[in-house]
Amino acid sequence: MERINNVKSSVTASPKSAPAQPNTLTVVDNRSGKTYSFPIDTNNFVKAEAFAQIKDGQGEPLRLYDPGYTNTINCTSSICYIDGDKGILEYRGIPIEQLAERAEFLEVAYLLIHGNLPTPQQYSVWKRKVMKHTYLNQDLGEMMKTFRYDAHPMGMLISSMAAYSTLHPEANPALRGADVYKDRKLVNKQIYRIIGTIPTIAANAYRHRIGRNFNKPNSSLDYIENFLVMLDQLGAERMRPHKVIVKALNILFILHADHEQNCSTSAVRHLASSGVDVYSALAGGVAALYGPSHGGANEAVLRMLEEIGSPENIPRFIEEVKAKKRRLMGFGHRVYKNYDPRAKIIKRVAEEVFQVVGKEPLIEVATRLEEIALKDEYFVKKKLYPNVDFYTGVIYKALGFPTDMFPVLFAIPRTVGWLAHWHEFIRDKEFKIVRPRQNYVGKRNQPYEDEKNRKFVDNFLDTYESAVSRRREKSLIE
Ligand SMILES: CC(C)(COP(=O)(O)OP(=O)(O)OC[C@H]1O[C@@H](n2cnc3c(N)ncnc32)[C@H](O)[C@@H]1OP(=O)(O)O)[C@@H](O)C(=O)NCCC(=O)NCCS
Repeated sequence: MERINNVKSSVTASPKSAPAQPNTLTVVDNRSGKTYSFPIDTNNFVKAEAFAQIKDGQGEPLRLYDPGYTNTINCTSSICYIDGDKGILEYRGIPIEQLAERAEFLEVAYLLIHGNLPTPQQYSVWKRKVMKHTYLNQDLGEMMKTFRYDAHPMGMLISSMAAYSTLHPEANPALRGADVYKDRKLVNKQIYRIIGTIPTIAANAYRHRIGRNFNKPNSSLDYIENFLVMLDQLGAERMRPHKVIVKALNILFILHADHEQNCSTSAVRHLASSGVDVYSALAGGVAALYGPSHGGANEAVLRMLEEIGSPENIPRFIEEVKAKKRRLMGFGHRVYKNYDPRAKIIKRVAEEVFQVVGKEPLIEVATRLEEIALKDEYFVKKKLYPNVDFYTGVIYKALGFPTDMFPVLFAIPRTVGWLAHWHEFIRDKEFKIVRPRQNYVGKRNQPYEDEKNRKFVDNFLDTYESAVSRRREKSLIE
């Protein structure tokens, strides 16, 4: 991994007339008249720390302001590469198209975490170890049964991952010391356990939601087959999931496995930076993924398509989007300013799935919506293209998944990406607690006033009140 040299030693404060060095950024602070020269890394960035050399009259370092991290690099990584303008996505340098076409999901998991494709022997050890860890701790299974019948499965997933932490104190830096993750065998154990049991937790969440008992995993099956059987098996019947459905999920899992510093992966790194255990860090990752701007978008897309209902309603919907009354879910991306390469692959997968389970009628709305949006100046100008979530929902619906399971189907494979980044980060020599600065614009040095001297400020304190509350309040005796 190439990193830039110690920037501090390269920063110079020199007179304006000094000749500019190649591959440097020259900054003139017009307040002091000083000129600074910062090295530009071959990967086209300058270390933010360099700017701290520039100080104001009070000696305060100059900060960089970037809400939403739209132009900030937060780490050095060699897991995933994206070229958003060209629509390129690679895992460890291998194009996503090749992986989707030829690899198995667990092989990709190995690639993401260990950095290279496994040999046949390594792959067989890896698969055996992951599948050996598909059994879920009984207590966690019992806890999952206590959720309300209509609990959102992402809520169950977040809570189960957090509860998981309580079952493994031996892997918790807060309890066993900060060095616990220096033990590589212990680290591997958590990786096998989490990749192994995430489909079991997801299947339990689904079964709980539909009022059926939990199926036990079958470690002799393939990873995806095992997941599908846990979802669907009733009683003693024997099942072998259809190969087209297995292939489709295999591709969807590969496409969702990683996407460099997206919101949830950054959240996992952020949490792990405090030294919290991997289960708690991942619980935060699942929570971040749940949001409709991120992994919850596939669910939001489906709800949007259902609301549009049929192609003739699209123009009115597009007008509302352009008037900024709503967003076209499944379109746009922070990084891709071109067609998301994953969306192209998913469109093909949809056709294959429809051959087996029948066509989902909403596909007509989705394809027409895409056609219209891609020709509309609003979307063209802003470089808004379909992203990974635009077509996944339609496939999941055709496969009979309830809409609220869609983000869960994203979370299973993304767990691998989170673990790959966690694995990289805990061994990173630049590992440090993530702690950004803020642009403070609030008051300073205010006195603590006695109650009688306080001025009235019209703060908004109302909340909604249910009919039950109103009835109860009327009955309360003063
Ligand atoms: C993914 C997303 C959050 C990226 O956000 P971002 O990089 O912060 O981009 P912004 O929200 O600043 O959007 C840039 C411009 O495009 C518009 N835009 C972005 N996504 C849009 C969408 N899906 N529909 C309509 N307009 C959109 C914004 O209104 C903004 O317009 P403006 O410059 O006139 O204000 C955003 O595109 C989005 O909300 N998409 C829909 C949700 C989704 O599919 N998420 C899954 C991502 S894989």
